Amino acid sequence: MLLAYICIILCFQLAIAQSSRDLDSLLQNYAFRAFVRPRTGVVYDGHVPSNFTGIQVAALRLRSGSLRRRGFDSYKEFHVPVGVVEQPYVERVVLVYHNLGNFSNLYYPLPGYTFLAPVLGLLAYDATDLSATNLSELDVRASAEPISVNFSNVRFRANGSSMSTPMCVYFGLDGSVGFDNVVNESTCLTTNQGHFSIVVGSLVAPAPTPSGGRGGTTGIGGGNGRSKRASEKDATNGRCRGMGRTTADDTHWEHEGARGVGDSD
Ligand SMILES: *[C@@H]1O[C@H](CO)[C@@H](O)[C@H](O)[C@H]1NC(C)=O
Ligand SMILES: *[C@@H]1O[C@H](CO)[C@@H](O)[C@H](O)[C@H]1NC(C)=O
Ligand SMILES: *[C@@H]1O[C@H](CO)[C@@H](O)[C@H](O)[C@H]1NC(C)=O
Ligand SMILES: *[C@@H]1O[C@H](CO)[C@@H](O)[C@H](O)[C@H]1NC(C)=O
Ligand SMILES: *[C@@H]1O[C@H](CO)[C@@H](O)[C@H](O)[C@H]1NC(C)=O
Ligand SMILES: *[C@@H]1O[C@H](CO)[C@@H](O)[C@H](O)[C@H]1NC(C)=O
Repeated sequence: MLLAYICIILCFQLAIAQSSRDLDSLLQNYAFRAFVRPRTGVVYDGHVPSNFTGIQVAALRLRSGSLRRRGFDSYKEFHVPVGVVEQPYVERVVLVYHNLGNFSNLYYPLPGYTFLAPVLGLLAYDATDLSATNLSELDVRASAEPISVNFSNVRFRANGSSMSTPMCVYFGLDGSVGFDNVVNESTCLTTNQGHFSIVVGSLVAPAPTPSGGRGGTTGIGGGNGRSKRASEKDATNGRCRGMGRTTADDTHWEHEGARGVGDSD
């Protein structure tokens, strides 16, 4: 049953990957248009056409040396630490910000989960030609501390204890999906660019098997199960484990997805 469930998500992910990449391309264009005699290190809010009302974009141009040595403390919800490097090297980069607002579900449907926050994106481009369209992203990587995403308006339900555990979700540019723990109640960490949100499992939990003790309890039991399974999979306990490089068949992903569902009751 779990496998069937995972397959449903995978099929969705493959199908949506292209439309979300098309959106990335459009939003790159809209964000770059915000640059009119741009200054380096200043955040410019872009405009989207009326059929995208609800989506916010912004653009920030930085010297890549400055990005690496100083980071950028507060770019909307993103905190970019020192040590972020791009591949291939360019002299200046543009970091494009997305807030997909009420379009989050449309472009990043995640069956079995409910978004508690909008899908936010951070994508890096070469700043050489600010009128370029259909640019491909640079490969960026946080080589020291992770980039943090501080979701300011997570819609936690008042009944905190009775809901499943909120999880950070990461959507890679390649269509991959990864889950990770939420830090400090509303922060997600990543070493890669991509799209981010906080979700909670919304499927009805499968009835616990009456025979075994395993899996019959929540809370502490869930925690034990998690670390046990994590070690079984020989996963690292790094903060961004799975984030970014998680492919569709990564066991970490499967395991976290299972946790999100199993915890809800
Ligand atoms: C909005 O219009 C643009 C072209 O103007 C089109 O490419 C895009 O797909 C439209 N978006 C939606 C959500 O209809
Ligand atoms: C998002 O909300 C705006 C109004 O705020 C509306 O015009 C738009 O159609 C909505 N889009 C979706 C996909 O719900
Ligand atoms: C954008 O670039 C990709 C390859 O990078 C190409 O396949 C696609 O056709 C281009 N789209 C447009 C609208 O130019
Ligand atoms: C996240 O944002 C909230 C307000 O939006 C702020 O109070 C909190 O200190 C921020 N947390 C971090 C880790 O930046
Ligand atoms: C909390 O949960 C109870 C029962 O599930 C429900 O009756 C109540 O309305 C919930 N409260 C809030 C604030 O959601
Ligand atoms: C979490 O909160 C603590 C205390 O406010 C802070 O020192 C730490 O940097 C925060 N972690 C992240 C990843 O934002």
